[in-house]
Amino acid sequence: MSAARLPGAHRPVALVTGPTSGIGQAYALRLAALGYDLVLVARDQARLATLAHDVEVRFGARAQVLPADLALAADRDRVAARLGEGVQFLVNNAGFDLSGEFWTLAPDALQAQLDVNVTTVVQLTRAAVPSMVHAADGTVVNLASMAGLIPGRGSTYSASKAYVVSFSQGLAGGLAGTGVRVQALCPGFVRTEFHERAGIDMGSLPRPLWLTVDEVVAGSLADLEKNRVISVPGAQYKAIAAVAGLIPRSLVTRLNRGLFNARGRT
Ligand SMILES: NC(=O)c1ccc[n+]([C@@H]2O[C@H](COP(=O)([O-])OP(=O)(O)OC[C@H]3O[C@@H](n4cnc5c(N)ncnc54)[C@H](OP(=O)(O)O)[C@@H]3O)[C@@H](O)[C@H]2O)c1
Repeated sequence: MSAARLPGAHRPVALVTGPTSGIGQAYALRLAALGYDLVLVARDQARLATLAHDVEVRFGARAQVLPADLALAADRDRVAARLGEGVQFLVNNAGFDLSGEFWTLAPDALQAQLDVNVTTVVQLTRAAVPSMVHAADGTVVNLASMAGLIPGRGSTYSASKAYVVSFSQGLAGGLAGTGVRVQALCPGFVRTEFHERAGIDMGSLPRPLWLTVDEVVAGSLADLEKNRVISVPGAQYKAIAAVAGLIPRSLVTRLNRGLFNARGRT
């Protein structure tokens, strides 16, 4: 099995899901700047084409556009097939939250969230890792969240990110010594289209709690260098994660009922 370059190209290849905005776009641009060619996977074809053009002009990177709705099995299969040809870097970034109560949301919407946030991460990682192990080189970054480390605000979203954390940690253990790195990237609140798409009002969030997409990507890359499997970008969130790890789970549940508003988020 070879790690396939793009046709006629020699640079290593990174596949990024959800590069049409937010963290995925920043990660794709950074990887292009670092010398990768790109395979870009999302639904918005116009934005994919603009980004592909942008990285070619700015960084001389080749970019292959692979339009796909990752909630659909047939589309996931096409992306998995491309990964099976070999890439050196996979960023499982596409994901979304939903507003509204769990018991009022359409079952189809809940299933789509599970398929994009969890099934896609497992399927694409499974497709990408064999050629990485064969090459004794490769990196998988899975977008989790602080919500995956501290449960309770929202149900299915937090649970999906907890899956990604646990999956990445377990897989990293299994891959020890193979030369393949796996990371669960766990940002706090990041300024992207994420909350607007979900219909979540973030107007009252204190400014120091907002991260920029560039801070998140820089934190992820720095933690890869240090071989950290759980990456929490930003000093403020490192502190929150450390304290949260000391609080018993039963108390977290009570705090969520009392102190924080856990209603209206799924
Ligand atoms: N923003 C935050 O505060 C925050 C915090 C922690 C973790 N995260 C996680 O970070 C990741 C990126 O989020 P973001 O904040 O950058 O959000 P964003 O700006 O809304 O970007 C989401 C990306 O995912 C893609 N996507 C969504 N559904 C898709 C589908 N069905 N098929 C293919 N692509 C799909 C979107 O592309 P198309 O619309 O073009 O398909 C878009 O490129 C997510 O996994 C999110 O859970 C975000």
